[in-house]
Amino acid sequence: MNATQFKKLKGSKKIIMLTCYDFSFASALEEAGVDALLVGDSLGNVVQGKETTLPVTLDQIIYHTEMVKRGAPNTFVVADMPFLSYQISVEEALRNCGQVMKETNCDAVKLEGGEEVAHLVRRLTEVGIPVMGHIGVTPQSAKLMGYGKRGKDISDAEYLKRSAKALYEAGAFSLVLENMAATLAKEITELVQIPTIGIGAGPECDGQVLVLHDFMGLTKDRPPFAKAYFDLRAELKKAVSSYKNDVEQGKL
Ligand code: KIV
Repeated sequence: MNATQFKKLKGSKKIIMLTCYDFSFASALEEAGVDALLVGDSLGNVVQGKETTLPVTLDQIIYHTEMVKRGAPNTFVVADMPFLSYQISVEEALRNCGQVMKETNCDAVKLEGGEEVAHLVRRLTEVGIPVMGHIGVTPQSAKLMGYGKRGKDISDAEYLKRSAKALYEAGAFSLVLENMAATLAKEITELVQIPTIGIGAGPECDGQVLVLHDFMGLTKDRPPFAKAYFDLRAELKKAVSSYKNDVEQGKL
């Protein structure tokens, strides 16, 4: 599937997306039938144990994305551009997004930000790099804005709607809507002709994304909107205890 085909999923099916950071999970998730994988800069939190996503580097995104695409060659894989890899100038954005596309075989990149990054989206799209936008809570701006729900006051809601439209008009093929009121996410979903992928943005988006470690119940402090579909932490404890018994009883 290419980005133009991804765009056409709007209205035809709900898009199932998870984050992913390595070969084995990518291979299993492809087998499980997800529509798309995001190599999120959330790897800074869930893989590296850092407080924010800010320290994640371009090389780390390339390293993880290349593994994920190798594990899931038939799945649409999006690489998340890390902090300061695209904000400095159009030239830097082109160079860095281009490097990610060249070295990882991924299908698209994702950038955080609203109308202020629309000019980057336009230029990247012009050279053939598909861009997924990301508005609402944008963790790369957490030091400035925090992680609180967005769009609560009218001016922020208006900014988010303007941003969605600007990113769509600039050529973004899809938009992540993170942690905003469900009513606002619904309005945005109706405003743009590209799929919206929600996380903490209610059920009316065209698809949903979850951070893999939250989805698996591995994260200790997952955000309130992130539903865990099993309790991997508890299952690991049980498995280690039965392994310990087997080792102690000489069963292996
Ligand atoms: O980095 C990430 O995992 C993300 C998702 C939460 C959308 O940007």
